[in-house]
Amino acid sequence: MGNLTDRTALVTGASRGIGRAIATRLAAEGALVAVHYGSNQSAADETVAAIRDAGGQAFAVRAELGVPGDVDTLFDGLAAGLDGRPLDILVNNAATIAYAATIDTATPDDFDRQFAINVRAPFFITQRALGVMRDGGRIINVSSGVTWFATPETVYAMTKGALNVLGRSLAQQLGPRGITVNTVSPGITATEMNTWLDTEPERARQVYAMVALGRAGQPADIGDAVAFFASDDARWITGETVEVNGGLLLGPPRPTN
Ligand SMILES: NC(=O)c1ccc[n+]([C@@H]2O[C@H](COP(=O)([O-])OP(=O)(O)OC[C@H]3O[C@@H](n4cnc5c(N)ncnc54)[C@H](OP(=O)(O)O)[C@@H]3O)[C@@H](O)[C@H]2O)c1
Repeated sequence: MGNLTDRTALVTGASRGIGRAIATRLAAEGALVAVHYGSNQSAADETVAAIRDAGGQAFAVRAELGVPGDVDTLFDGLAAGLDGRPLDILVNNAATIAYAATIDTATPDDFDRQFAINVRAPFFITQRALGVMRDGGRIINVSSGVTWFATPETVYAMTKGALNVLGRSLAQQLGPRGITVNTVSPGITATEMNTWLDTEPERARQVYAMVALGRAGQPADIGDAVAFFASDDARWITGETVEVNGGLLLGPPRPTN
C-alpha cells in the first residue's frame, strides 16, 4: 500500500514530461489523480492508461490555461472526476516557455501569455482549489532554476520568480489550515521543453559538464521529489524552494586532462 492511499491529487500539465512523471508517482502511491492537460488529449490518455495499467486510479481533465474561463473549465472537470471527494494535493506544474521572448524581441502579447499560463493560472487554480481542499493538504509548485541562474528567456524566468514568491506567501497564509506549500525547482530536464538535448549533442554535453551528477534530469527525478512533498514525511516542511537538479552550477567544472 502506498503512502497516499485515499488521497486525491490534481496535477496540471500531466499529459507529458515532468507532470506525467508526477502524476504517475502520486498514483503509484495510491492517490486518485486528475491528469490535467491543455490540448494533447492522446498524451493525456496515455498517462491515464499507464496509471490504470499499473493498478492506479486516474482521470483526464482538459482545460486550456491562460484563456478566459480556464479555471472554471478545469474545476468542472475536476469535480466530475472526484465525484464529491475533496482534494488533498495540488501540483501546479503546467507552464510554457517562449524561447523568442528575450529582452530584444519579446512582445507585450508574449509577455501576457506567459504570465497568464505560468502565474495567473496557478494563482487562481490555487484560490479555487482551497475551496475543495481538505485541511492538512499539500500544494507543490513547479518552478525553475532560471530563478537563480541567468538565461536569455527573461519573461519565462520572471514568471518562475513570481511562483517562488507565491509559495512563501501562501505557506504563511495556509499554515493555520495545516496546508503545506513548497516549490520544486528543476534544472535541465529531458522533456519536450528541451528537445535541443537530443538535437544539439555538443550543447547538451557542455550542459552535462555543469551538473555534478553529469547528466540531464529525467522527469521521474522531479516526480519523486514532488511525491516526497506530497507525503506525510514532509509534514513539517513548508514555504521552501528546493532545487532538484543533480547539482547544477555548483562550481567550475573539474578540468579533464
Ligand atoms: N524541462 C525542463 O528542463 C524544466 C526545467 C525547469 C522547470 N521546468 C518546469 O517544469 C514544468 C513541466 O515542464 P515540462 O518540461 O514537463 O513541460 P512540457 O513537456 O512542455 O509539458 C508541458 C505540460 O503543460 C501543459 N500545458 C502547457 N501549456 C498549457 C496551457 N496553456 N494550458 C494547459 N496546459 C498547458 C501541456 O499540456 P499539453 O500536453 O496538452 O500540451 C503539458 O502537459 C513546467 O512548469 C516547467 O516550467 C521544466
